[in-house]
This record gives sequence, structure tokens and C-alpha cells, in this order.
Amino acid sequence: TDVTDIQALIKKAETTHELSKSEIVTLLTDNQYVDEFFAAADRVRRKYVGDEVHLRGLIEFSNICKQNCLYCGLRRDNKKVDRYRLDTDTILDFAVKAKSYGYRTVVLQSGEDECFDVDTMVNIIKKIKELGLAITLSVGEKPREVYQAYREAGADRYLLRIETTDKGLYEKLDPGMSWDNRVRCLKDIKELGFELGTGCLVGIPGQTIESLADDILFFKKMDADMIGVGPFIPNPDTPLAAEIGGTFELSTKVMAMTRLLLPDINIPATTAMESLNPQGRVLALQRGANVVMPNVTEGEYRQMYLLYPGKICINDTPAHCRSCITGKIQGIGRKVSETHGFREKRA
Ligand code: SAM
Ligand code: SF4
Ligand code: FES
Repeated sequence: TDVTDIQALIKKAETTHELSKSEIVTLLTDNQYVDEFFAAADRVRRKYVGDEVHLRGLIEFSNICKQNCLYCGLRRDNKKVDRYRLDTDTILDFAVKAKSYGYRTVVLQSGEDECFDVDTMVNIIKKIKELGLAITLSVGEKPREVYQAYREAGADRYLLRIETTDKGLYEKLDPGMSWDNRVRCLKDIKELGFELGTGCLVGIPGQTIESLADDILFFKKMDADMIGVGPFIPNPDTPLAAEIGGTFELSTKVMAMTRLLLPDINIPATTAMESLNPQGRVLALQRGANVVMPNVTEGEYRQMYLLYPGKICINDTPAHCRSCITGKIQGIGRKVSETHGFREKRA
């Protein structure tokens, strides 16, 4: 493909928000016009979702997991993690504090910990809703009835990354799990009226650029409301310890392409991006992102929720992160949103 073609492709993505798989591959592979590509994603972000950045306070309430995903530090066979689960009162206390920092959403994230049964979760959701906060759940694969109970209790959004749309690769990296069941979960979540968040890992062993293009087309097909893209960062205490991992650059390319093709959705500048690049979240916010998820987990638990090495903020307090991230956002001329930050569909 010659020079003008790349520029024409960027223009096509920016104006029509439709590209074929091979066009996506061409743009993800190009290294010459990356700055123009990122600038286009930034313009689309500004046009469709504006300059406000939505902050979601992240509570990592249990690092206990029955799954064994090869890439993840919380996998059940990793004996080197000190496991914890917060009790309901502690979770509610962190939610109250999140509200005091001005966050309008809390994200409740954990491993797949069976101890949090439906009744426990429903109780937590109802109590947090009484605070006037929006709730995002990220607690893994569940039967439809369980998602329905969460939804009826008041949960607003659900995050479940497809991780990769390459079914064979997914089932290799997530032993004992089924890709079809994950898609079933995503469809149930959408049908039940949650805002649907999904996303992928970039740089997992065996993944190709073609497969990343499929991921982006999958996000579009699912009409996802939020997409989280992050580099895979090898964890020394997992079977993928010796792998190379994803790059910051390619992760932000996949994220920027997602913004170009799904212009009005919410896209976080992910923690994993900043773990690879000290300016990672600010750069991501300038390449298509409009959401940040600062950690509001307190005390020693932060160090224990270690998905990958080098995770940022593990020695910082929620108050510090609040002022740190506000400074970064204002430093690039953007502002912190005071709304709940739901997706507003703009044609
Ligand atoms: N257990 C729930 C699930 O899997 O959906 C939620 C928690 S899980 C730790 C959240 C996300 O962490 C996963 O979707 C995965 O993409 C990401 N993750 C896990 N290990 C990672 C690694 N080594 N590098 C980067 N991201 C990782
Ligand atoms: Fe468990 Fe989620 Fe980690 Fe997989 S990615 S091991 S389900 S916490
Ligand atoms: Fe946690 Fe900057 S956001 S230290």
C-alpha cells in the first residue's frame, strides 16, 4: 500500500467509522502515519464524547479465583499470591470513600470467587446503589439468572473481556473455559440491559494482527458500550513467564482503531498501559480514550491484586491517586466529568 492509501484509509475510518478487516490490518501495521492515525482517533473522541474524562473508582474486592488463565497472576495454581477477600462492610466502606473522592461510579472487580454468592452480591449492589453511585461489575462468567439478579439489584454495567476472538487461542490460554460460553455471557449481559464492556489483551503468544482486527470487528458486532484494551504483561509466577508480552504502542493502536470504528463508546486508558509507559494513561487519553479507573482499594490489598508485575499505584493511597489523576487530566486541557458517564448514543 502506498502513502496516499494510508492517509485515505485514516480519512475513511474517521469519516465513515467502517473499515474492512484487511484495511484494519493495513492501518495497524503502518508505522509511517501513526501520528496522523492517533490524531484522527483523538478528533473522533472529541467530536463524539467530548473533553470530559469519566473516573470510575475501582474496588478489587477478592483475588481468589477458581479459573486458571495462563496469563493471570490470580490464577488458581499460583501459590505465590497471598489471597484475600473483603467483607461486605469493607466493600461498602470503600464505596462510601469512592463517593467522597467525587467518583460517580464504582467498579467491583474480583477473581471468580464462589464465596460471593448471588445473595451476597445482590446485597452489596443494593447498598451501593443507595449511595447514588453507578455500579460496574467485573466478576467473570455467570449463568444468565445470576446476571439477571445483579441487574435487578441495580448494577448498571458489566465488564467481561473476550480477551481474544481467536477461539482456539482463547481455549489454550484459558484452560477449562469455553469461548462460546464467554460469548453467551456477553450476549446475556447486553440483553439484560447492562452497558456491555468487553475488550482484549494485546500481545498474547500466538496472536496475530489479523486476529486483533477480528477483535475490533467483534466489538462492533456486539455493539459494546465500553472497550478495554490492554497489553499482556507476562507474570513471572505464571506459565507465560517467559513470553514477550504486548507493547504500549500496539495496544494504543488497537484502542485508537476501536475509537475510530465505535466512535461514541467509553474507552478507558488502562492501568496496564501506564504500567508499560509512565505517561501511558495521558497518551491513551490523547489517542482515543475518555475514561480512567483509579484504584480505591485501600491498604495491603493493593499489592495482593497483582495480575502482572509493575502494576502502578500499588503503594499509593486512594486520595493520592485522586489528585494525581486529576492533575494529569487537567494537565492536558481536559476536565473531570461530574456525570455518571453513561454511553450517549450519537448518530
Ligand atoms: N476475573 C474477571 C475476569 O477475568 O473477567 C475479572 C478480573 S481479571 C483479573 C481482569 C482482566 O485482567 C482480564 O480480563 C485480563 O484481560 C486482565 N489480565 C489478566 N492478566 C493479565 C496480564 N498478565 N497482563 C495484562 N492484563 C491481564
Ligand atoms: Fe481469574 Fe479473571 Fe485472572 Fe482468569 S483473568 S485467572 S478469571 S481473575
Ligand atoms: Fe495512582 Fe497516579 S493514579 S499514583
